[in-house]
Amino acid sequence: MTASSTTASAGVANGQPAARLWSSRFAFILAATGSAVGLGNIWKFPYITGENGGGAFVLVYLFCIALIGLPIMMGEVLIGRRGHHNPINSMRSLALSDGRSSRWQGLGWMGVIASFIILSFYSVIGGWAVSYVGSSASGAFVGADADQVGGIFGNLLASPGDLLLWHTVFMAMVIVVVARGVRAGLEKAVTLLMPALFVLLLLMVGYAMTTDHFGAGVDFLFTPDFSKLTTEGILTAMGHAFFTLSLGMGVMMAYGSYLPREVSIVKVSIAVSFMDTLVALLAGLAIFPIVFATGLEPGAGPGLIFQTLPLAFGQMTGGAFFGTLFFVLLVFAAWTSAISLLEPLVSWLEEHKDVNRLASTLGAGFMVWLLGIASILSLNLWSDFHPLGMFTMFEGKTIFDLLDFFTANVMLPLGGLLVALFVGWGMKRASVESELGMESSVAFSLWYGLVRYVTPLGVLVVFVYNLA
Ligand code: PFF
Repeated sequence: MTASSTTASAGVANGQPAARLWSSRFAFILAATGSAVGLGNIWKFPYITGENGGGAFVLVYLFCIALIGLPIMMGEVLIGRRGHHNPINSMRSLALSDGRSSRWQGLGWMGVIASFIILSFYSVIGGWAVSYVGSSASGAFVGADADQVGGIFGNLLASPGDLLLWHTVFMAMVIVVVARGVRAGLEKAVTLLMPALFVLLLLMVGYAMTTDHFGAGVDFLFTPDFSKLTTEGILTAMGHAFFTLSLGMGVMMAYGSYLPREVSIVKVSIAVSFMDTLVALLAGLAIFPIVFATGLEPGAGPGLIFQTLPLAFGQMTGGAFFGTLFFVLLVFAAWTSAISLLEPLVSWLEEHKDVNRLASTLGAGFMVWLLGIASILSLNLWSDFHPLGMFTMFEGKTIFDLLDFFTANVMLPLGGLLVALFVGWGMKRASVESELGMESSVAFSLWYGLVRYVTPLGVLVVFVYNLA
């Protein structure tokens, strides 16, 4: 047992019973990395990098993680641990104790609602990944041509029944973990899944090295060609930094509330941001060489993972085996993120409504599952239903597109902006300094400057641009 686990088990630290605290600093790092590393790293990062021309985009992305993402992550974890409750109650109690309006709890509300909505469609995509494990293992991609691989993906999206089945399986996996609580559920799951995820990822990179296009993949990711960088690319990189680090939706607050007092928020936030970035880069190193080796294009958009990659695996020796491993990896990544998305709502129901853990999880999980059906139908039966089509901005957007748009482009940056403003301007400097344990240091002044000026400005720019 580690020193910190001894302290945590000793009774109540943080105002939380021990079963509701991470057993160690490492456990928090695994859980928060599990939340951060998800479809965003393995599906979205490679495809947006592909669409935005590679190296230069990656460089901008790294800056965004360091200057915007990391400072906000520290802010969110700090709010959670100092408030030591669910995001809504933490925001309320911190605002009141530092002499601010209780209306700041709206930020907590937004987080809980955003994570709820995101999980509803995240689970649908997680379901695709689960179904691809089966397709790949059964050899469906072996020797298939582009039309056949496209057909498998097309048939899946066209079938509400299949999508519902996989969405249900995925949500059941999430509920089983979350219902067991912080230590016995979340912590145990990430302790098993995260090391497995890293091993699988390294295996995939090793496999990519056996192709003679590994160098081309490295070049694509790391040789910046600034002529390929667009304003839109820069904004995409900034927006993605939020999504990939799980910021702006109360998840890091909820996870921070289970963080034992003696753990350094600065160190764990740096570790989580680093690991998340590492996984995204490794995913790129695993995927692009395989894509190049089979003469395919990296800029295929969202279909990169579900169409281009299976096509590539289908043409390679050992492709069925490694393809299956790849989708298992994708499922693990999505699973550990999805459990974190359910946590803010479950912790609120549990604490605020006094509903026990099992009932909170089942209730919240059922509601998410239900909302997910709207996204499923948007892909087929309701694909022509555009509820906000009367506004030019939302023309052609299905319910799925709208949920994605409002969460990723509105609620998430707004949440991040408010976190930065609350920590930088709302809370007393002394409270912030003492919670971070960085009293009067240069590093603190640097971070404080970022969180007060640079981060809010950066987020504001993305926010306005995305809406304009
Ligand atoms: N960070 C996750 C990913 O990159 O897939 C997604 C995510 C999880 C976003 C949790 C937000 C969140 F609160």
